[in-house]
Amino acid sequence: MINHHKRLGVNIDHIATLKTNRKTDYPSLTKAVQVAECNGADLITIHLREDRRHIQDQDVIDIRATAKVLNLEMALTEEMVDICINTKPDYCCIVPEKREELTTEGGLDILNMNENQFNFLVKAINTIHRNGSKVSLFIDPEVQQIDRCIKAGAKCVELHTGSYANAMSNNKNNELKRIENAAIYASKFNLQVHAGHGLNLSNLSDICKISSIEELNIGHAIIADSIFKGFEQAVIDYRSAINNG
Ligand code: PXP
Repeated sequence: MINHHKRLGVNIDHIATLKTNRKTDYPSLTKAVQVAECNGADLITIHLREDRRHIQDQDVIDIRATAKVLNLEMALTEEMVDICINTKPDYCCIVPEKREELTTEGGLDILNMNENQFNFLVKAINTIHRNGSKVSLFIDPEVQQIDRCIKAGAKCVELHTGSYANAMSNNKNNELKRIENAAIYASKFNLQVHAGHGLNLSNLSDICKISSIEELNIGHAIIADSIFKGFEQAVIDYRSAINNG
């Protein structure tokens, strides 16, 4: 499906990083939700990591009560599926998680899941769908991974844009093309296509030209830009970059 208004998901994990690192009750995440929504965010994205390095369980409850549209990113575990069931986010994005990683370094490798893992994924997707949240699977932009997402019963995919964001200039176009091909392929099968990771004001415009991508989830760069221009202005700037892209 082609949608001309690309949704902006503002990921506020790194506001939680400030709060959690010092064990303070500020900066307020619910205020961040309100500021983001008032300035052009279509949804709020948070990642409850198993090690709770930024977002905490109580934050999930508070943010759910405040956000108009919530996208909860989480690993594929029994604990997280239970939390998702209790939280009822609008979207649940299943991501791979490694304790030692700095951030989500790659997509879910659904292609190489063993039978037990794949069956657990299918069961989790069914349980979460029955509870009213739409499941999105965070994958590398590859057709074979998309085929497995369809087989697993997902309604959306989020394409990992990290390789594009990190690519040197001589490889940037190849990475962009991979994302575009994957987005076109997924939308032909009626999957909603989201994208994210490593996007910033300098690399966003080419991604915005891919019409099959309906939603962009952006965190680190928005929070980094906020240091010098404020969170409100940073959200406004990403909103207009996407609108003008
Ligand atoms: N999408 C997903 C699924 C993520 O896990 C993340 C954070 O790692 C992002 C988007 C946002 O990435 P960034 O913080 O680099 O903008």
